[in-house]
Amino acid sequence: MGKVILTGDRPTGRLHIGHYVGSLRRRVELQNSGEFDKIFIMIADAQALTDNADNPDKIRQNIIEVALDYLAAGLDPKKSTIFIQSQVPELCELAFYYMNLVTVSRLQRNPTVKTEIQMRNFETSIPVGFFTYPISQASDITAFKATTVPAGEDQEPMIEQAREIVRRFNGIYGNTLVEPEILLPDNAACLRLPGTDGKAKMSKSLGNCIYLSDTAEEVAKRVKTMYTDPNHLRVQDPGNTEGNCVFIYLDAFCRDEHFAKYWPEYHNLEEVKAHYRRGGLGDVKVKKFLTAVLQEELEPIRQRRKEFEKDIPAVYAMLRRGCEEARAVAAQTLDEVRKAMRINYFDDEALIAEQARRFAEQAAK
Ligand code: TRP
Repeated sequence: MGKVILTGDRPTGRLHIGHYVGSLRRRVELQNSGEFDKIFIMIADAQALTDNADNPDKIRQNIIEVALDYLAAGLDPKKSTIFIQSQVPELCELAFYYMNLVTVSRLQRNPTVKTEIQMRNFETSIPVGFFTYPISQASDITAFKATTVPAGEDQEPMIEQAREIVRRFNGIYGNTLVEPEILLPDNAACLRLPGTDGKAKMSKSLGNCIYLSDTAEEVAKRVKTMYTDPNHLRVQDPGNTEGNCVFIYLDAFCRDEHFAKYWPEYHNLEEVKAHYRRGGLGDVKVKKFLTAVLQEELEPIRQRRKEFEKDIPAVYAMLRRGCEEARAVAAQTLDEVRKAMRINYFDDEALIAEQARRFAEQAAK
């Protein structure tokens, strides 16, 4: 069995740099490493609908935005199959069977679902589809026999749930499915990039995001107002680099080469941090450097996006081909699943012969 990637995003908005360092940048590297036999990148519209049932237009509008962000970031449809979840109905069928393998209490214990329920104020009015989305996500992953899921830390409980389902399925029905593994960012700052206000997570509703498609001016403005150390009032004061957004972003984005190019007084981030901690280094200078680093990474993405935006029908055509490819693979897995579960009645000549014999014997008695 080869190495297969499946991962994806909910199309509820344009992708931001949290998505980028948490997973997207890594996907592009993995795609270009040539180490994987197959790469599937899914726009999870059906999952997005689990908490946006009354707002399908939001999902509809954002599918193209996410597809453009993917292409702009460097995902290449020649190497990666980019597809839309709802266009692969096999995924629903698989989820329906998996539902029998998971208990309600197991879902209630899922930490990601727990926090999401709190964030959305669902309390007692949790949609069943939302509550069960970890099962649907297990289908997304296993339908492609994915071995590897590059994703952020918040997806860990989902992958664990998928692994449990695989073990249970294979235990009951025989070895059919593949147990996936999560691939987390190797850099701690990338695990959970905070919003520009220092709040836990980037989120559109908090207005604390830097989007991949933001203009250079928008990025510069966001960095200017970024949360730093509230006690670092004067340049000569010692500053704290822990929990300081500017430094967390630098941890996620800057490389030693950036210093020679944009800030030759220092050789690496450790030197800058040491200076900031001892006092004598102002936020403005650090922010100026961060802006330069971000622009260097984001400018090529922005440019590529502009090119792809010129031919939107071509992007939809690419997605359509991706859906067809994905569907063929999922259908193959579903054939195997139905066979393992012994619900492939019409393909099973032995079954028909056996039943015919049974009834013939009965009639002869
Ligand atoms: N839950 C993921 C998110 O919120 C999106 C997603 C859906 C996904 N299915 C997946 C991620 C399968 C990895 C694998 O971003």
